Amino acid sequence: MDTMIEKLTKEVAGAFAKAGYDEKYGKVTLSNRPDLCEFQCNGAMSAAKEYHKAPIMIANDVAENLTGSETFSEVSAVAPGFLNFKVSPAFLCAYLRAMTEDEKFGYAPSGGRKIIVDYGGPNVAKPLHIGHLRAAIIGESVKRICKYAGNEVVGDIHLGDWGLQMGLIITELKKRKPELPYFDPDFTGTYPEEAPFTISELEEIYPSASAKSKEDEAYKEEALAATHDLQSGRRGYRAIWDHIMRISVADLKKNYENLDVHFEWWKGESDVQPLIPQMVQDLKDSGLAHESEGALVVDVSEEGDAKEVPPCIILKSDGAALYATTDLATLLDRKSVFDPDQVIYVVDKRQEMHFLQVFRTARKAGIVKKDTGLDFLGFGTMNGKDGKPFKTRSGGVMRLETLIEDINTQMYTKIMENHEADPEEAKETAKIVALSAIKYGDLSNQATKDYVFDSDKFTSFEGNTGPYILYTIVRIKSILQKYVQAGQTDAQKTASPELCKLMNPEHDSDKSLMLELVRFSDVMNEAYTELAPHKICAYIYDVANAFNRFYHENKILVEEDKEKQQGWIALLLLTEKLLTTCIDLLGFSAPERM
Ligand code: ARG
Repeated sequence: MDTMIEKLTKEVAGAFAKAGYDEKYGKVTLSNRPDLCEFQCNGAMSAAKEYHKAPIMIANDVAENLTGSETFSEVSAVAPGFLNFKVSPAFLCAYLRAMTEDEKFGYAPSGGRKIIVDYGGPNVAKPLHIGHLRAAIIGESVKRICKYAGNEVVGDIHLGDWGLQMGLIITELKKRKPELPYFDPDFTGTYPEEAPFTISELEEIYPSASAKSKEDEAYKEEALAATHDLQSGRRGYRAIWDHIMRISVADLKKNYENLDVHFEWWKGESDVQPLIPQMVQDLKDSGLAHESEGALVVDVSEEGDAKEVPPCIILKSDGAALYATTDLATLLDRKSVFDPDQVIYVVDKRQEMHFLQVFRTARKAGIVKKDTGLDFLGFGTMNGKDGKPFKTRSGGVMRLETLIEDINTQMYTKIMENHEADPEEAKETAKIVALSAIKYGDLSNQATKDYVFDSDKFTSFEGNTGPYILYTIVRIKSILQKYVQAGQTDAQKTASPELCKLMNPEHDSDKSLMLELVRFSDVMNEAYTELAPHKICAYIYDVANAFNRFYHENKILVEEDKEKQQGWIALLLLTEKLLTTCIDLLGFSAPERM
């Protein structure tokens, strides 16, 4: 099914052709003067240059060819050459009816591609902090949008599980419990099954080791050596690593679960280490990698680079692999196990240069196929109200768990203030609504931009917020429930094709709501091709506003004209389904009541 814009464009392009102009000028867009019209076409302006005619003459010719069209109720050519349109109620209703009959509301993406979304990227054994929030929220939504577009998509958490933090933990553990068998090089038995630490101990061990290594050079040397030993396969250290992984991954799963974020793959940097030696050899053999100041590098600068792109470092002078090396090996691994058409990285935008170097090296070296899309979706910083990166009150790094608990509590208090509620139920509801506050607060901004995390604003039931959207959905659900109870009519049936009584809009507010709803496919196309969840947020905010206006202007439940009432109910059902689908794509859901 064509999107609304495609349908209108076809019609207007036809009119251009009929009038003897190239149909490419027939592109229709949403109106940017909603006070004057609903849709517009500025093609006559561009056509004027080709045909050496006044734009208004061309616009008039086209308008003439659209008289009597069943699509439009109003077509006007206005100086200097705009074409302004209003669509006919019958056309609008027919389109909406077709939307209700389609599983994806008329959205017909071409899909069929294989996509990996690389997001999350936490470093094992360090507690999840708010720095990880954006990757999780944006990545999960991008993944869902790509799936909805009909692609086969996997999310890979890409754990940072192979770096210095592991050596630091091993070093600190050795200081605290030197008697453990892991540190005895002559030990040949089996290591204990139980880890020598809990998750809270682990979370304390890492920062204290990290702090010590910054003050004490010898300590740092020891940690580097332990990292090296681990990476070279020392048995005892590998056993500690296994413990760290098991405990951290269980904790990470719990945390991501709370955010309704789910990864199909729990792979990490460690998984691809075995691929590195051969990859490095190939890079050398092909002549791409060369030595520079003792290191092995690949030149990736290109003519026309606006700023300098330094060589991609593959091995340091001591022979150690680096961050880029691991990302290249990961691409090799992904090609052999999944053969993706596209890999999307949702990572802090400060890593942009790193990914540029990796992408260019991967292409030069044939590590990815020629037509594999490599996309870096870099996100900005989440700031506090002071405009600086978000911190705890005491100035420390905020743990993700703490942030979520704070918003949950804030939401719970609000719900209890609003109306009497069962505390247990209110708690559950608060969790659902709080998640919408956090996620919508983030996603409604363009990902690349920094934004201010303002919990008072985000948790408000009014304005452009997650709770406002949920409130609207809950309101619709409640009207539908009352409708069913009052007349014992099955509201679902009302929306079924035969019974769908979507009526010609009579009021401005019916039509405004309808005009918002029909944008769905166009919005989905944009959100997918631009990897832009914020477009979905903007859409549902418009839909929610249009619905609430409609709701305030019409007495739906006491309407006497039953046909009209059924039409409205069908409109409500569609609105509710669209909103529910959209928030699922954003990664949250609505409660039954709130
Ligand atoms: N662990 C990395 C960090 O904390 C993020 C990983 C992003 N993904 C990737 N493929 N490099 O900076």
